[in-house]
Amino acid sequence: MEPTTSSALRDHQIAATPGLRAHRRAFVERFGGDPDDVRLFFAPGRMNLMGAHLDYNGGPVMPMAIDRGTFVALRPRGDDRLVLASTSEAGTAELALEQRSARPPQRSGSWWDYPVGVLAGLEPPAYARGADVLFGGDLPVGAGLSSSASMTLATAVALDALWGLGLDVQDAVDVALDAEREFVGVRCGIMDPYAVGHARAGSLLLLDCATRAFEHVPLDAERYGVCVVDTGVRRELASGEFNLRVEQCAEAYRELSKHCDAPNLSSVPLAVLDAHADELEPAAARRARHVIEETARTLVARDALRAGDVAGFGAAMFAAHDSLRRWFEVSIPELDVLVECAREVPGVLGARLTGAGFGGCVAVVFEVGAEDALAECVRAGFSARFGSEPQVALYRGSPGLGEVRA
Ligand code: GLA
Repeated sequence: MEPTTSSALRDHQIAATPGLRAHRRAFVERFGGDPDDVRLFFAPGRMNLMGAHLDYNGGPVMPMAIDRGTFVALRPRGDDRLVLASTSEAGTAELALEQRSARPPQRSGSWWDYPVGVLAGLEPPAYARGADVLFGGDLPVGAGLSSSASMTLATAVALDALWGLGLDVQDAVDVALDAEREFVGVRCGIMDPYAVGHARAGSLLLLDCATRAFEHVPLDAERYGVCVVDTGVRRELASGEFNLRVEQCAEAYRELSKHCDAPNLSSVPLAVLDAHADELEPAAARRARHVIEETARTLVARDALRAGDVAGFGAAMFAAHDSLRRWFEVSIPELDVLVECAREVPGVLGARLTGAGFGGCVAVVFEVGAEDALAECVRAGFSARFGSEPQVALYRGSPGLGEVRA
């Protein structure tokens, strides 16, 4: 794989969409003043297609960044105050930059912990100007599409532009990861900020989470579409269950590494698990089976995609979903029904839950032309079983992370 390379954050300019133009108007309604002084920034969300729950186990993952994400509108102020507001969340944060060294920013349990966590990891210049900042976007929150990494990277790009910090994409990824792990306190893996920062339209990002090396593997957007079907289920317990999976994987690795020389759970040979599974807690053994088999499956999927065999890639997605349900136990009936409905549609090549699980969305890869039958079939199957309609959204590749042209 290529070594990690990174371009300056401010190299990349994005064309304005109607949603971004509306966000500029929302900023002016909120803060007043001249719309021409408002700067706009975009960071995509991501969907993960292969390598579920492998990032914190040192395995390979294959996410793509999507054309929905976080919008940030910003205008410098005449004083040192940073005022953070949101179109979708209540409450406003106000921080005094000059008192920053005497009183470092603290976690509050509010939505602004994400941008404040980014601020805590940056070094603003002496006498930095403050700004009014409005967050918003068109990404469903808490749906497994990485709204949090999208928000932290959007913040990093905007503050880099405000203060001329000279960050590159990798710096922004690192700051975003620290903000979520150290400041917000979620034990997340590295996949989300890497996908948001480094993915390119027309490709999946193949990231080795042990070495952090990555490459771009093309998925022909003329012939193949991706879509997300949202169950609408959001689980409060998701972060507790997520941290439990992280612990169970760590426990499995501690035991299995006594029997082999493996740097992480992803690289433990399956034969070692088979020989020693009964020495593990049953739940830890099930988690390990998913991780070890998903690692092999992701490498098969990678080879299929490189060879242009998208059907082979899709078959691995279906198998990944089965394993997430059976061994990792992060699926729910709503997700399973959507995957089973999608599987019946001619032209659908693969489907699986995306993100951590417990609710959220199913990602589907299909041959262009199958989208109407897919939408009809999943809506009918889901509402027959659960009495409500799932949201079906077609996604395109992301325009990237950066400032939006006026
Ligand atoms: C969540 C985490 C990611 C990853 C996925 C599961 O989305 O934020 O880092 O672990 O779950 O693949």
